[in-house]
Amino acid sequence: MLRTHTCGELRRQHAGQIVTLCGWVDYFRNKGGLVFLWLRDRYGITQITFSEDAGNSPEEAAQLLELAQSLRQEYVVQVTGEVIERPEGGENKDLATGEIELRPTALKILNRSEVPPVQPRVQNADELPSEDVRLEYRFLDLRRSDMQKALELRHRMVKIMRDYTDELGFLEIETPMLGRSTPEGARDYLVPSRVQPGKFYALPQSPQLYKQLLMIAGYDRYVQVARCFRDEDLRADRQPEFTQLDMEMSFITMDDIIGVMEGLMKRLAKEILDIDLQLPLPRMSYAEAMERFGHDAPDLRFGMELIDLTDLAGQCEFRVFRATADAGNRVRAIVAKGASEQFSRKRIDELTAWAQENFGIKGLAFLKGAEGTLQAPIAKNFEPAMLQRIKERLQMEDGDIAFIVADTFETSCRALNGLRRRLGKELKLYDPKTMNFSWIVDFPMLEFSEEEQRWVAVHHPFTAPLPEDEPLLDTNPRACRAAAYDIVINGFEAGGGSIRIHDNALQQKIFGLLGISKEMAEERFGFLLKALSFGAPPHGGIALGLDRLAMIFAGLDSIRDVIAFPKTARATDLMTGAPGLVDDKQLEELEIDVKKK
Ligand code: AMO
Ligand code: AMP
Repeated sequence: MLRTHTCGELRRQHAGQIVTLCGWVDYFRNKGGLVFLWLRDRYGITQITFSEDAGNSPEEAAQLLELAQSLRQEYVVQVTGEVIERPEGGENKDLATGEIELRPTALKILNRSEVPPVQPRVQNADELPSEDVRLEYRFLDLRRSDMQKALELRHRMVKIMRDYTDELGFLEIETPMLGRSTPEGARDYLVPSRVQPGKFYALPQSPQLYKQLLMIAGYDRYVQVARCFRDEDLRADRQPEFTQLDMEMSFITMDDIIGVMEGLMKRLAKEILDIDLQLPLPRMSYAEAMERFGHDAPDLRFGMELIDLTDLAGQCEFRVFRATADAGNRVRAIVAKGASEQFSRKRIDELTAWAQENFGIKGLAFLKGAEGTLQAPIAKNFEPAMLQRIKERLQMEDGDIAFIVADTFETSCRALNGLRRRLGKELKLYDPKTMNFSWIVDFPMLEFSEEEQRWVAVHHPFTAPLPEDEPLLDTNPRACRAAAYDIVINGFEAGGGSIRIHDNALQQKIFGLLGISKEMAEERFGFLLKALSFGAPPHGGIALGLDRLAMIFAGLDSIRDVIAFPKTARATDLMTGAPGLVDDKQLEELEIDVKKK
């Protein structure tokens, strides 16, 4: 055995035992005749003190000390020694093993290390090198206890998910990676076929169709910790490959699925965060979320709701507002209570430039509450009575500041949601430790893509309409709501699902509305349409974004911090260099010509 204990294990009760530890040199202090060594592994840190008392004789002590002085950071060593109780009051409160230290009798260097470009002992973000360096040396970055804690938390969450779904009779069934494209709204990652040159597999954007086929096959309750691949623009909460807790159930209603998910959330909140989640979770319609917060995954940890001024704008003299209202667009505002003094002209200009760049708004107006009225350069454009009505509508008092966007509904949603999130954080409007769970329901089935000039599915093409809205598919598709639901935590879409179409004719009708021709539907989804005509049960499901959920539960800002080997915003793995070039021979076998730049 290379070791008898881990570096996080020894306590007062081990005093007097001879133990052997293995680990990395986390830190060492050389004080002439004394070397303090902190030995680290995944479980913790133990202090080893090399002094003239080490070993079994003064000669041994001198040899050990000399060897200890040659140690450097991240060397891998094996140490045998006696567990010594530290004197009362001499404990190191920073270490779980701080009640003891080791008096070494043997030291062996198992391996050496170059000077590490990422210091595993550094946790503080300000002292770490850039994320690019961390990702290039991910094997060092992953030695940091923060990363190890995050991955351990993720493991515990998955364990709870597996236990919970197992108790409820779910079967975990693997589905193919090499398959046909399932549209989830992103581009596919394609894998060329060597055996059938010119043909391609698509990596799954999700196991959506396979899980529906498993329901048709009678498996009743399916679950999978499933890897998904989407070629889309990456952000802090998006990776090209990510993991879902993917579920599907037969003979259920939307409330049944929501109930199963709420039970899981309650257990996760209790076991991971020791929070008692009150069930049922609140539900809000998509329309209400967009109206009140400008986003379908609103951060409900704080207020600062959007306030509509369009009717007043339509009666006012200010050209910009008036024209917006007349064009059928919207004038809406958010108010930062008591924050007026924090917004100098310079800061407002910066905020405006940021919002223009990120959300494409033409301008950002502001009004400050002062001397019982509203003051700002634009105030002169309003009659005093109108200014008063605006003030009342916004419920503004002296010291408050309002930011106003006049634009289309969609753009004002995007901009005000962005501003609201940014100000909520900067003005510390919520305790970052609070957790807020809710459901967003009653999504629209379809939205019109100006770019493609056709209807596209808001969730995916297999989502059923709400039964009462189904007739709207013929008369007013825009108004038709879907039997879809998202679970939102702290302003993140943590998961989403829907009741599926289990009727062949309705599925074909939806394909038609989405501009998918009969031939195309047959070619791409023929297997689904066929299966739907062989006794498909009513079914539905949901998928949780595991990376996002782990990020939220860990209180982190990026899913990269809960993924062992993530990719950059350019979808590169900086450690391995993927994606990389391949041999000409490989390309030849695939009959692929790469255009030379
Ligand atoms: P959806 O596309 O909403 O639904 O995905 C479900 C959840 O997966 C997470 N997610 C992501 N996480 C990290 N990086 C990404 N690029 C990424 N994309 C999505 C989100 C999201 O809520 N098949 C359906 C589910 C169903 O209907 O049952 C689906 O995939 O947290
Ligand atoms: P202008 O007359 O275009 O110079 O605009 C006068 C003021 O209205 C400036 O403070 C602009 O920032 C603001 N403004 C212009 N367009 C908008 C808009 N779409 N929404 C909100 N405020 C705007």
